[in-house]
Amino acid sequence: MVVTPQTLIEWKQQKRPIVTLTAWDTPIARFLDEAGVDAILVGDSLAMVALGYPNTLPVTLEAMIHHASAVCRGVKRALVICDLPFLSYQESVSQAMRSAGRVLKESGARGVKIEGGYPAIVETIARLTESGIPVMGHIGLTPQSVHRLGYRQQGKTEMEAKRLQEEALALQEAGVFSIVLEHIPADLAASITEKLTVPTIGIGAGPHCDGQVLVTADILGLSTKSPPFSKQYANLRENILSAAREYANEVREGKFPGE
Ligand code: KIV
Ligand code: NA
Repeated sequence: MVVTPQTLIEWKQQKRPIVTLTAWDTPIARFLDEAGVDAILVGDSLAMVALGYPNTLPVTLEAMIHHASAVCRGVKRALVICDLPFLSYQESVSQAMRSAGRVLKESGARGVKIEGGYPAIVETIARLTESGIPVMGHIGLTPQSVHRLGYRQQGKTEMEAKRLQEEALALQEAGVFSIVLEHIPADLAASITEKLTVPTIGIGAGPHCDGQVLVTADILGLSTKSPPFSKQYANLRENILSAAREYANEVREGKFPGE
């Protein structure tokens, strides 16, 4: 069975948690798909975890398509969604349509994710979904707004919480198939999740979302800095260091290659 946007909506109704992780290349994507991860996000966090940038802003649409097509070549079952990067959709509906269209046509991803829930972005998303493009929303901490908002938790005041509730409902009305809730209080995420018919995917948003997502480099121990709400499940940095050191020693001591 192949996972589709509709599958995620059905799983919310069945209360089956939606397991999501990020990927940026073919082998990582293949392993996540083999492990049964339901949705694989080609997040623009790849700017930081794979390309060495200090935040997500510099990554281009070309680069996102390049990485998304590599991810799609490794995936058989999971739903692959690709982030639209900073300033590839904010300018106008037609810019967003062109960018999302290129992602779907050139990479093989079957949905795009767009940050924000303010009126202009909701209008853009409505136009995309009407055109047949599956869109995932993303509200709360939106890393593309780092220069304006920082990486602070969002939705802590009553006013902010009310605004996020309204944005979630407006995004659902605009036709998104799912919404990422990033770094907001758990009780707010729970109340948004309860009000929506489309699934919420939480990251730093507590246990009551319909699914969870983390940045794969963080869970594997490959990031230089991880957010406090992440969890490390492996330490690949240590594995890579010791493999490279062992190889270096063997070459220097003449042990590798053998006769
Ligand atoms: O870019 C990314 O990895 C993301 C997820 C953390 C939701 O947007
Ligand atoms: Na992102």
